[in-house]
Amino acid sequence: MTQYKGEIRTLPPDKSIAHRAALIASLAEGTTEIMNFSAGFDNQSTLDVLRSSGISVVQESIAEPGGNVKRNVVIESRGLWSLKKSAQNLMCNNSGSTMRMFSGILAAQPFESTLVGDSSLMKRPMLRIADPLRQMGATIELSPENTAPVLIRGTKDLRPLTYELPVPSAQVKSLVAFAALHAEGETRIIESLPSRNHTELMLGLDVQELPDSKRSIVVPGRRPIIARPFLVPGDPSSACFIIALGLMNRGSEIMLRDVCLNPTRTGYLDLLQKAGAVIRIENARETGGETIGDILAAYSPSMKPLSISDPATVANVIDEIPMLAVLSACMTEGFSLHNAAELRAKESDRISAVVSNLERLGFSCEEYADGFSVSGKGMAPKGRVPVESFHDHRIAMSFAIADKVLAAEIDISDAAIIGVSFPNFLEIIESLET
Ligand code: S3P
Repeated sequence: MTQYKGEIRTLPPDKSIAHRAALIASLAEGTTEIMNFSAGFDNQSTLDVLRSSGISVVQESIAEPGGNVKRNVVIESRGLWSLKKSAQNLMCNNSGSTMRMFSGILAAQPFESTLVGDSSLMKRPMLRIADPLRQMGATIELSPENTAPVLIRGTKDLRPLTYELPVPSAQVKSLVAFAALHAEGETRIIESLPSRNHTELMLGLDVQELPDSKRSIVVPGRRPIIARPFLVPGDPSSACFIIALGLMNRGSEIMLRDVCLNPTRTGYLDLLQKAGAVIRIENARETGGETIGDILAAYSPSMKPLSISDPATVANVIDEIPMLAVLSACMTEGFSLHNAAELRAKESDRISAVVSNLERLGFSCEEYADGFSVSGKGMAPKGRVPVESFHDHRIAMSFAIADKVLAAEIDISDAAIIGVSFPNFLEIIESLET
């Protein structure tokens, strides 16, 4: 049986932080250097829409001692209103973060823009972005199903507002913040469940605690943003797949270096540790407002089944649920998830995607409106089993990891979609094989 051992220094840079660094750079006065930017398709889509909107974006590859190549990006802007009307539709491909967060910026520009995406993105809900931007005074037109194309007629006269987030979405929180930076006056964004807080940290926003565990994020309008460098740490959501590989395979031990350990992102490490996984955090330190550190993951044969239902936990681990479900099903013969209807609105309907693929692999699942459960030992078939990626990078990677553990040989449709967030996924796995 293959063991996975070694040290990884080439994890993709964090996708969420990289999107925000590029978008904030397009609003800043001066030259922004973003060190360690991802080659993943999603982050590249954000650079492309900025270029199409007249922003100067230069990428360079930097060879490091030891042979690793890192990408740096240099973005020049002249402040809040530097964007120009694009001659064509802005293509966001598979990237919901690009479409939603850039909409917040375009809503404040005095011209018309249209954002489109691939077949997966064109089906995702966009009313959640139109609603606050309309309240601020922008004109937003969506399809009759409230999906993209997103047509934005922006205005320089956006109004500030107090906006309570109807869903715990860091994308929506961020797009309101980006729009609010252009409004005259102070905007308050109220969230009742915490979501990733990179935008608040990167813009240095004031966050006030309110009764009932709510928080108010205060965004001052029309204050110049001065360009400053950003260093993007490793992506904890990408790390999750490699950690699962280490936990699931006998004799494995993997060290992941320089991973973002922001607590709004690492709920999955707590869940796994509580279930008995051998995971150690080392060398935790602060860099550029974010906590980063190293994660050691080793074979963990005596884990207990994962059960996820607390809404705050669901919001924290939302991107890691497919991998956690597959890991728990394979290692412990059980898994349960509730209060996660939001998972149906990701790059695919991740509830039905995971259930249908696990069923193909012989697991017995029950699907609910807001989650699913897996019970008993899967009767994993031997030989080749086709599973679907549903054009979703996280579904493809979750089942690529299952392939390394189960007897079945798993054929994943459209596995190239992994490049959305983790272009060197297979290369890293191969480098760990012993
Ligand atoms: C993200 C927020 C989450 C997450 C997505 C990235 C972000 O989406 O699922 O992968 O960078 O803000 P929602 O805001 O829709 O919850």
